[in-house]
Amino acid sequence: MSIAERTFIVFLGPPGSGKGTQTRMLETTFGLPQVSTGDLFRYNLKHETDLGKLAKRYMDAGELVPDEVTIRMVEERLKQPDCGGGAILDGFPRNLQQATALDAILADEGGLDLVPMLEVSDEEVIQRLSGRRVCRTCGHLYHTEFSPPQQSGVCDLDGGELYQRDDDTLDTIQRRLYVYYKQTSPLIGYYFAKGLLVELDGSMPPDEVQTLLLQAFRDRGINPVA
Ligand code: AP5
Ligand code: MG
Repeated sequence: MSIAERTFIVFLGPPGSGKGTQTRMLETTFGLPQVSTGDLFRYNLKHETDLGKLAKRYMDAGELVPDEVTIRMVEERLKQPDCGGGAILDGFPRNLQQATALDAILADEGGLDLVPMLEVSDEEVIQRLSGRRVCRTCGHLYHTEFSPPQQSGVCDLDGGELYQRDDDTLDTIQRRLYVYYKQTSPLIGYYFAKGLLVELDGSMPPDEVQTLLLQAFRDRGINPVA
């Protein structure tokens, strides 16, 4: 596949807006890998790498991990063979410095193709994150009320144990929201000005949000490869 054919999508939206849920669904449809900086940090944390230990301090506080390490991590990830057709970015970029760094990384690739933005109220964010559960082995996402597993605490897909993220406490959720409005929300204007932004109502059920997304992709001539 030539470089010009690579497709790069960036998902924007507050914590809990459904970025992980939607990008994982798209990964299957489009055959493009989901690249989530939060998941990459948690992977490093689980394997007790130096990067994981550094990131934990910031994640537990609801603050952004320093740009230098985050940008380097993404740059390395996008060089992996599974990103040969492009990638769906979840949680990156998260401020203007990261956005301009991504533009430079993708400069020879024709840049980004689309930036969906999931809109959800603060009240909904708090409700969603307070009830979120994650499979320890496959990372599948559940919600105790909105999308519960068949058996409490057990993943439907692989029987893995479900856990609650350390940063899904009320204090840290509120700090993450503050950081989002202060540092990440300026990216809405940044991508609007580039003609890449598509704002979607993220408050509907996951399948309905996915339908809206697929329509936005089709409208841009981005079609499933799988
Ligand atoms: P990250 O892991 O990216 O967390 P986040 O942005 O706070 O977003 P979340 O993962 O909490 O929410 P989501 O939008 O993915 O929603 P989800 O689909 O899970 O980052 C964590 C930390 O890492 C940051 O705080 C920072 O420290 C660090 N970090 C990461 N990226 C960084 C960067 N670029 N630079 C610096 N630091 C960085 O859904 C949430 C819940 O709602 C689930 O329970 C789900 O089942 C449910 N749900 C989803 N959709 C719906 C729906 N439509 N209706 C009802 N329920 C729904
Ligand atoms: Mg997520």
